Amino acid sequence: MSRRGSATMSLPPRVRKAVLTVHIVSAGAWIGVDVLVAVLAGTGLGGGSDAVRGLALRALAEFVVTPMLVSALVCLASGVLLGLATKWGLVRYWWVAVKLVTNLVLCTLILVALRPGMPDVGAAGGAIEAGQVPATDLSFLVFPPAVSLTALAVATVLSVYKPWGRVRGQARRVPTGVSEARPTVSA
Ligand code: HEM
Repeated sequence: MSRRGSATMSLPPRVRKAVLTVHIVSAGAWIGVDVLVAVLAGTGLGGGSDAVRGLALRALAEFVVTPMLVSALVCLASGVLLGLATKWGLVRYWWVAVKLVTNLVLCTLILVALRPGMPDVGAAGGAIEAGQVPATDLSFLVFPPAVSLTALAVATVLSVYKPWGRVRGQARRVPTGVSEARPTVSA
């Protein structure tokens, strides 16, 4: 253990690169699922035929939450591993700490806000297909893709630019045996 509870570990460079690849792919998959949510929600709320709107809502209810949650959790786990195994730490640099909080908040929102509403969305899709007026107000469907895509875009920008430097009070010494990571721009 090093300072302030930032546990450190070392990964061989090839393993670290493999974990980084998993991290980037899972982040990209998560963004892709969010784009799919935006398309399905937009189609379901839009002015198309009842058959297409209903099908889009049923697909949204049926297929989206699990891949979103899995990609979010893989992104979180691989990000935590990278943080622990490199000089970046988990709460040593602002850009990592903010991404950690963002990832945790989004995972929580998927579990407590998005997933519980999906049965109603599916039922609303079925009602629309049957030519009925859905019992649920679906306007809330605008928010999940908007919030998540914005947050993930910010997280991606943070990952590339690595702004804001160190969290206050974090010493500058890099613990012995900890990978210095790639020669990316350090804040
Ligand atoms: C919120 C969603 C996240 C997205 C979209 C994201 C995206 C990315 C991307 C695109 C990179 C590659 C940057 C580059 O190679 O220059 C990266 C690297 C990194 N991410 Fe994330 N990330 C996320 C969450 C996290 C979390 C939760 C952590 C840890 C708590 C984390 C820690 C790291 C670290 C330490 C690196 C640098 C690894 C290295 O250079 O060896 N990320 N992230």
